[in-house]
Amino acid sequence: MILLTGAAGKTGKAVLKALLAHNCDLDVCVLVRSEEQASELKRIGAAKAVIGDMNSMESYRRSMRGVKAAYHICPNMHPQEKEIGRLAIAAACEKDLEHFVYHSVLHPQAEKMPHHWNKMRVEEMLFESGLNFTILQPAPYMQNILASREIIYSEGVYRIPYPVTTSLSLVDLLDLARAVAIVISEPGHKGAIYEIVGTGGLSQLAVADHISDVLGRGVDAEEQSLEEWRRTAEKSGLGSYQVETLVMMFTYYARYGLEGNSNILSWLLNSKPSSLYNFLKSDITNEI
Ligand SMILES: NC(=O)c1ccc[n+]([C@@H]2O[C@H](COP(=O)([O-])OP(=O)(O)OC[C@H]3O[C@@H](n4cnc5c(N)ncnc54)[C@H](OP(=O)(O)O)[C@@H]3O)[C@@H](O)[C@H]2O)c1
Repeated sequence: MILLTGAAGKTGKAVLKALLAHNCDLDVCVLVRSEEQASELKRIGAAKAVIGDMNSMESYRRSMRGVKAAYHICPNMHPQEKEIGRLAIAAACEKDLEHFVYHSVLHPQAEKMPHHWNKMRVEEMLFESGLNFTILQPAPYMQNILASREIIYSEGVYRIPYPVTTSLSLVDLLDLARAVAIVISEPGHKGAIYEIVGTGGLSQLAVADHISDVLGRGVDAEEQSLEEWRRTAEKSGLGSYQVETLVMMFTYYARYGLEGNSNILSWLLNSKPSSLYNFLKSDITNEI
């Protein structure tokens, strides 16, 4: 049995589906917060669901019963990311798990972004744990662009809170999920740290051009000021830790960009990762 934490989130659901598609006999136990999430993931195919809290050692102990490997996904922008990692690793040591696979991030070394830096500290805990581990370091997902779909359609604008020349590598979450399934199900990946990157650096002007091409209408990239972004985020109810962390991330992107290399993902998948154009073609035109 494989344990999947953070299972009801965007990444978790994609990983669950990919694990089951890769090996339909695989038993997956999901750690979730509510009955509704447990039922939804069981409908998708999870063999077992444990309702608990990722801040609780007792929840990890319950969810790791009969488990031989874990894929650990910390909830997005969580202020207790290090503590959550520490508990998951301690429980895996206690239960003597054969393999612990950690969902990190591209360039966790970037100290100016707290959620990257916290993931680096969790990676360090793994080095010191004695566990067999694999670390995956994904680039920002192409799926993040879909959050702007309504504005793209209504205003013909792709609006981002950093300069339009900012260069970012991206990855299709479905490619990332397939890579997770390979790393968990197949031998030979223990001790590895893999960057999971689908594209070279793309400016936001290039992203808008791809959107234009796919939609067959003009779409312009437009920088939104951080102050305006912050006002909208606060009005939407996003927590202050998340707002401040995202502001630091956007400031970092604006100064340095975030670029990786797709060689490792191509090798893992044994095929070229999805291009942004192909991703947009199948996803941005979906229901709005
Ligand atoms: N988005 C990207 O481009 C990107 C790129 C690289 C890496 N990452 C990393 O990917 C990870 C996952 O991101 P995501 O967007 O998939 O996350 P997400 O959609 O926010 O999902 C997080 C899940 O964890 C659950 N959760 C929150 N607090 C919990 C707790 N205390 N105990 C148990 N469950 C809890 C949430 O439940 P509720 O729904 O009930 O809140 C949700 O189901 C993050 O660490 C992020 O840094 C993201």
